[in-house]
Amino acid sequence: MTVRIFIPGDSAAVAVGADEVAGAIAPEAAKIGQAIHIVRNGSRGAFELEPLVEVETTEGRIGYGPITPDEVPALVAAGLFSGGEHPKRLGKPEDLPFFLRQTRLTFARCGITDPQSLDEYRAHGGGEGLKKARSIGAAATIEAVTKSGLRGRGGAGFPTGIKWKTVADTPADRKYVVCNADEGDSGTFADRMIMEGDPFLLIEGMAICGLAVGATKGFVYIRSEYPLAVEAMNRAVETARADGLLGAAFDIEVRMGAGAYVCGEETSLLDSLEGKRGQVRAKPPLPAHKGLFGQPTVINNVLSFAAVPHILADGPETYVALGHGRSRGTMPVQLAGDIKNGGLVEVPFGISLGELVDEIGGGTLSGRPVRAVQVGGPLGAYFPRRLFDTPFDYEAFAARDGLIGHGGVVVFSEGVDMAAQARFAMEFCAIESCGKCTPCRIGAVRGVEVIDKIRADEARAANLAVLTDLCETMKYGSLCALGGFTPYPVMSAVTHFPEDFGVTTPEPVGQEV
Ligand SMILES: Cc1cc2nc3c(=O)[nH]c(=O)nc-3n(C[C@H](O)[C@H](O)[C@H](O)COP(=O)(O)O)c2cc1C
Ligand code: SF4
Repeated sequence: MTVRIFIPGDSAAVAVGADEVAGAIAPEAAKIGQAIHIVRNGSRGAFELEPLVEVETTEGRIGYGPITPDEVPALVAAGLFSGGEHPKRLGKPEDLPFFLRQTRLTFARCGITDPQSLDEYRAHGGGEGLKKARSIGAAATIEAVTKSGLRGRGGAGFPTGIKWKTVADTPADRKYVVCNADEGDSGTFADRMIMEGDPFLLIEGMAICGLAVGATKGFVYIRSEYPLAVEAMNRAVETARADGLLGAAFDIEVRMGAGAYVCGEETSLLDSLEGKRGQVRAKPPLPAHKGLFGQPTVINNVLSFAAVPHILADGPETYVALGHGRSRGTMPVQLAGDIKNGGLVEVPFGISLGELVDEIGGGTLSGRPVRAVQVGGPLGAYFPRRLFDTPFDYEAFAARDGLIGHGGVVVFSEGVDMAAQARFAMEFCAIESCGKCTPCRIGAVRGVEVIDKIRADEARAANLAVLTDLCETMKYGSLCALGGFTPYPVMSAVTHFPEDFGVTTPEPVGQEV
């Protein structure tokens, strides 16, 4: 009997040797005359277990991990193909504590199915959302998305239903659906995991959007650092086209990004898609009125589109029932940095930062105490341990001068120099600035200089005041959030870790931003 073996083909697993492990298993199986079929699934997101090898048995799938290529002969000898005992045997992966704490909606199929098999996608519930949208029509589809409370997962948390309705209500001969897969935030990888691990989910979400707003063409804009995701999306789009899922009614083109952080900003992304240098456009007009090639355009993040099929298939009520405050449904949180159980965790909004880092994440990998956690990418605030009770929720984070952004959580342990981190934030802004407005273009360069002076103990108090003023100017004077949000990491570092800036007063210094 042919035994199915699952080894992720996801970038994260490949980076730690999944291809070599897959290559080592086939000859070992041949040696003992065992017929096997290796499925290169997506990652389940428990990165410390990658490469995670799973075997399909009568009791379900049994996992082993992390497996190195030279462990393969012993693993096969131990009875891998029947789920035999081995020091790296994990049992059923879904029974591991890392997964028991999760509620997987968007990532329900990721790591389970063959990402390139449309048949498997459908066998595991895929396609039901689009079927439902077709049966209820455009207006009811938008209503369902609005009712679900879904907010854009790209960072700003804008209600997706309202965005779709604006495009639907804007008269035009041609409209576009654009998927923002630029994913430039530090510590984030959820978009990539969907594209590599369940690409038909994104295709289905975009097709539902096309139907809802009256667009026949969609683009997926993927960052250039994601070659495997580009390949996975291109293959899935071809399959979907051959199947008729994509075609005359709605088709998708995959484009590779230009390689700049600012190209993730929606208007800059549109410039880049149009073949120009990615620069931020002043709003209004909103992309929903005048977007790609001057036409009404929906731009959503990968996770926003990927949440929609479930909302349609199971009804908005099941989605809205999960969450906290105005943050409804689940959020794929990405745990990175000095963390023991790093990876992808999908949980309903409302879980506390402490539960995420200490309980699901298992604390630091180094064993040193956590000192700071940056949430929301390079423009997110640094939170000290005393703010670990903050619930994961857009408003709760904003109330503490933070943001959840795209759900990236990067953990720093004792030893991190927070003044160096603040400098890094300013330098990042200076390097990535599109150059269109002065507070960001010039302010970030001056910001690096001022932090250098503070660190060198040059007129420290005066320069801290200059830094605070500069951050205010950047926050209120910048055209987009790149310059406008850089004060969050900088001032949170000053406020919560004043000792790293040479400030010895017990009171936190600097104004909250
Ligand atoms: C500098 C900058 C970079 C951004 N990068 C991304 C990104 O990589 N992916 C993304 O979805 N949104 C990014 N955004 C947010 C987008 O401008 C936009 O709000 C989002 O794509 C809208 O989709 P959503 O409503 O589904 O969140 C970025 C914003 C800024 C200011
Ligand atoms: S804030 Fe920076 S990235 Fe944004 S428009 Fe201004 S110069 Fe460009």
